[in-house]
Order: sequence, then structure tokens, then C-alpha cells
Amino acid sequence: RGERATTPDLAGRHVVVSAGGTREPLDPVRFLGNRSSGKQGYALARAAVARGARVTLVSANSELPDPAGADVVKVGTAVQLREAVLKAAADADAVVMAAAVADFRPARYVTGKIKKRDGVEPEPIALVRNPDILAEISAERARPGQVVVGFAAETDDVLANGRAKLARKGCDLLVVNEVGERKTFGAAESEAVVLAADGTETPVPYGPKEALADTVWDLVLPRLA
Ligand code: CTP
Ligand code: CA
Repeated sequence: RGERATTPDLAGRHVVVSAGGTREPLDPVRFLGNRSSGKQGYALARAAVARGARVTLVSANSELPDPAGADVVKVGTAVQLREAVLKAAADADAVVMAAAVADFRPARYVTGKIKKRDGVEPEPIALVRNPDILAEISAERARPGQVVVGFAAETDDVLANGRAKLARKGCDLLVVNEVGERKTFGAAESEAVVLAADGTETPVPYGPKEALADTVWDLVLPRLA
């Protein structure tokens, strides 16, 4: 962490960070989920606290310890995450969606545990779309000049996919993580690139999630109203 990061340059600001991964219940004992640990979102929250911001961390199913100094709101599903993020975003200067939000949820919740029966094949699980929280907060900014940031993991044509997603979501910044073996952009050690709606691209070299967190806030800062 450099000298810059300890400057309280986010003092007087309220920032909202979502972290972790949503779980979409199927019955009382089962859910559809993902492997997100919450590490990146928690690093973003800690970095913002260190830089003087008031921080609301909306955390979906993460095992990580609450960051000191942040208001932590725990949620389970995408619908709950949406409610909590929209509520906190009402007076926020910036919203960073680092959570892995399930794209789909089971169409119906089975109130009793689903049981198997001899000689009967299981029913397929019908799914429905979850709300797109990032697109919604980008389209309906709770405050003029509110800065909205998304995250995306992409393969293949990483930059083109990232650009298209940034435009589709309507956010200000999109942190694109390249997944898979093939490095398709920037310097050899680049692990992420931050795409901005104004066309700029900031490659972030391979390193700890704390460093990426500070880079994100460095890019949010000049865009704040
Ligand atoms: N996101 C969201 N609500 C959703 C899905 C995603 O707010 N229902 C946010 C994530 O938190 C992330 C960004 O959107 O910041 C990009 O997520 P990603 O899964 O890459 O985008 P999708 O539009 O779901 O595209 P894909 O079909 O590639 O999964
Ligand atoms: Ca998705």
C-alpha cells in the first residue's frame, strides 16, 4: 500500500460495496450458488474505510470477518442483495458491485425437502432470471453524479466482451478480470483491466486484491460529483 492510499481522499463520501455470492434456495436444505469468497469486495470495503469513506458493505454468504469501521448488511439471495444495495445507494456517492449475483433462481421454492423416490426420475429444475442490479442502479442513479462500478470475468476476446458489457450495463467503470490461460491484452503480467465509459483503459498488473481495490478507488475519485 503506497503513501497515496493512506490519504483520507474519500472523507465525507458514502460508498456502497457488494461482495460474496448469492445463494438461490431450492428447498429448505439446498441452493444454487457460486464459489465467490467475497475477498475482492471486502478488500474494496477495507480500502475505502482506510481512505476515510463511510462504507456500507452488502455481503452475500461470505465467511470473511466484518471489516472494522464498515456497516455490514448480510444477505442471501439476489433479490435480497438488490433490496439492500438500492436502499444503501439512495445517498451513496459510489456503488461498486463486486458480488457474484446468480443470473437465475429456481422458479419455485419447494417448502418441504425434495425427496427421491425409487423408480421415479427427478423433475428438471425450472429457472427464472434474477434482476440485473448493476444495470438498474446505472440506469436510475439515486443521485446525480453517482459513480457506478461493475466487475466481470471474461474469456476469449476479453476487451471486446468487456466493452460490450460496460455499454450494456451503463456503468462508469467495469473491472474486467481475464480468466483462462490465454493472455489477450496489455502487458504480459496484466491480470485485470479497468474499462471506463469515457474510453480509457487502465491495466492492473497481477497482484493482491488490496492493490486492485486501491486502483478502483483511484479511478472512482476523479469521477465523483
Ligand atoms: N450483476 C448484477 N446483477 C445480476 C448479474 C450481475 O448486478 N443479476 C453485476 C455483477 O455484480 C457484476 C456485473 O453485473 O458487477 C457483471 O456480472 P456478469 O455476470 O459478468 O454480467 P452478466 O450481465 O450476468 O453477463 P454474463 O451473461 O456474462 O454472466
Ligand atoms: Ca452473470
